[in-house]
Amino acid sequence: MYGMIHRALRQMVLDERGEEVWSSIQRTANVGLSDFISSATYPDEVTQRLLSTSSEVLGQDSGKMLEQFGQFWIRYAEASSFASILAFTGQDLVSFISNLDRMHRTIEDVMINARMPSFSVLAHDVGQIRVEYRSTRTGLAPFVSGLFLGLLERFNLNGSVSLISEDSKKSIFVIHYE
Ligand code: HEM
Repeated sequence: MYGMIHRALRQMVLDERGEEVWSSIQRTANVGLSDFISSATYPDEVTQRLLSTSSEVLGQDSGKMLEQFGQFWIRYAEASSFASILAFTGQDLVSFISNLDRMHRTIEDVMINARMPSFSVLAHDVGQIRVEYRSTRTGLAPFVSGLFLGLLERFNLNGSVSLISEDSKKSIFVIHYE
């Protein structure tokens, strides 16, 4: 994945646990400064190693950590040069999620090697959205839950996210909010 993802993970650990813990993760995962270039792409294996080593060193369940990382990613992107793209994506939760694929396509103009996921809003009602997530990757459902939690935060909503079904091609989430 793009180095921007690695940098976000590093920032989350630095913010929450400090330099020493991060150095230990970096050593254990056997990664160096050259693995954190925003505009470079790395094999998913490197990204996976960074994530699994982080959860080991932090003593945190890997799903929980991925969820936390998803939530952090939204704040990280809001503070990045991509902030205006987020603002154009939507002014409310339903339109934002409906426009996620368009947003990722815009980002692909500059990050041409990205393998982006796909999201579709299957149904929505007052306080409830059902979303389908498709990816060429597996194991990222907890990350997606965290991303949705981050979006609830972005739109100042209280709510929860449930994964209601998952197979090798797609996962379905329900977001409840008020
Ligand atoms: C401006 C903000 C964002 C930027 C710059 C961004 C960029 C990226 C990039 C570069 C990747 C990696 C693709 C690769 O290296 O192959 C990625 C993956 C991903 N993005 Fe975004 N993204 C943003 C916001 C979001 C949001 C708001 C969501 C969902 C709520 C999201 C969901 C995902 C997921 C789930 C993946 C993992 C790839 C997969 O499932 O296969 N992203 N994004």
